[in-house]
Amino acid sequence: MEQENRAKFGSKIGMIAAAAGSAVGLGNIWKFPYMAGQNGGGSFLLIYIMSVIMLGIPVMLAEILVGRSSQKNPVGAYGSLAKNKNWKWVGLMGILCAFLIGGFYYVVAGWSLEYVFQAIINSFEGQDAASLDAMYTNFVSKSYTPIIWTLLVLGINAFIVIKGVEKGIERFSKIMMPLLILIMLILVIRVLLLENAMEGIVFYLTPHFDTVNSEIILSALGQAFFSLSIGMGVMVTYGSYVGKTQNLVKSTSQIVFIDTFIAIIAGFIIFPAVFSLNIDPTGGPKLVFVTLPCVFNQMFGGYLFGLLFFVLLFLAALTSTISIMEVCTAFLVENFKFERKKATLLLTFLTSIICVLCALSLNENFHIYIGELNFFDALDYITSKIFMPVGGILVALFVSFVMDKKRIQNELTNHGTLKQTLAPYILFLLKYFVPLAIFMIFLNELGLFSYFK
Ligand code: PHE
Repeated sequence: MEQENRAKFGSKIGMIAAAAGSAVGLGNIWKFPYMAGQNGGGSFLLIYIMSVIMLGIPVMLAEILVGRSSQKNPVGAYGSLAKNKNWKWVGLMGILCAFLIGGFYYVVAGWSLEYVFQAIINSFEGQDAASLDAMYTNFVSKSYTPIIWTLLVLGINAFIVIKGVEKGIERFSKIMMPLLILIMLILVIRVLLLENAMEGIVFYLTPHFDTVNSEIILSALGQAFFSLSIGMGVMVTYGSYVGKTQNLVKSTSQIVFIDTFIAIIAGFIIFPAVFSLNIDPTGGPKLVFVTLPCVFNQMFGGYLFGLLFFVLLFLAALTSTISIMEVCTAFLVENFKFERKKATLLLTFLTSIICVLCALSLNENFHIYIGELNFFDALDYITSKIFMPVGGILVALFVSFVMDKKRIQNELTNHGTLKQTLAPYILFLLKYFVPLAIFMIFLNELGLFSYFK
């Protein structure tokens, strides 16, 4: 019965494309540059890359392994691989985290759709940074249009998820990703030719260790997890769709490489442009939406590039929202025997409620706050700085201390048919470094242990 419900990716490249599709999204192009801008440029970049290598790779491998080994959604996976059934709560936490990420993610995906629309009607033309800034502010905090776009994104997303893993997700990612990389590389070349571009590169590549503090470290770590879609249920779920002959270490490295490459490239587009156009690098979420239209205005074929870029940004966001929805859907289908379509529609409805609250929390007429943060920022904070790092510690402990060793070995070597030279090092990091490092970062953040002030 259960086997019938389970989907599979049709090919190796399809799985990598789909998992990379989940990983690559607004996190790389929208969030990474503004986080780097707010957290000291080069210092952030360095800590980010270290987090990706030392924490991201082990955690992603662990999650894909848990998924493929159990062939279940996160709740079923942790529940079935451990004697102590309480581990299923880790899976549930991951699913909840994905759901909460959806709360703000669909909203920003909606923004990218607005920018597709603005690109179509050519409204960037003739505008400078200040007026583009005003355009963004008017849209996000003075109008109600973001809600319409968000609901549209949710609808498109539901349509694709209902069609299922292979047809919907795989095919789509395979075309979009190479195109996105191509257009981003063209943009890098263009911005490097701008005046003062070098200043941006220097900002982006020079770490200033005296400015590093625990906040920056936790931000970089949370961003690495967010960008890689780890520390929650996505990679466990996608792992469960991976065929038994696939080399997990290799696939993990490829996904991590693609994701990190695209984030770094996004920085190479944004920072030279920011410094050349005299835009404040610490501007936050609006950074990409103000900077890039400015660049398009200055470049040959800017209309076409602008349009193509925002279409691709939207598509990249969509492959990520699909994964967010897929995690929750698989859970309802497998654990509560929902029909796929009903599960998706129910989730779409529930998500739309938090999305609307989220979009409204940025509107100047509404004050939807949780503590000191508006609802949008609160969801971002809770997921990136609490749920995902904690999820990372738990999956690391699970694979290192709870899961059967022989089973792990079999998964990594495909029952002895593959030689894995790197795996022992990755498992070492997973066992000793990942839980400890994240734990110390937390203590440090709470001020209980202060190495970095
Ligand atoms: N990794 C996605 C991005 O970078 C966001 C995401 C996070 C998607 C968690 C799914 C789950 O845009």
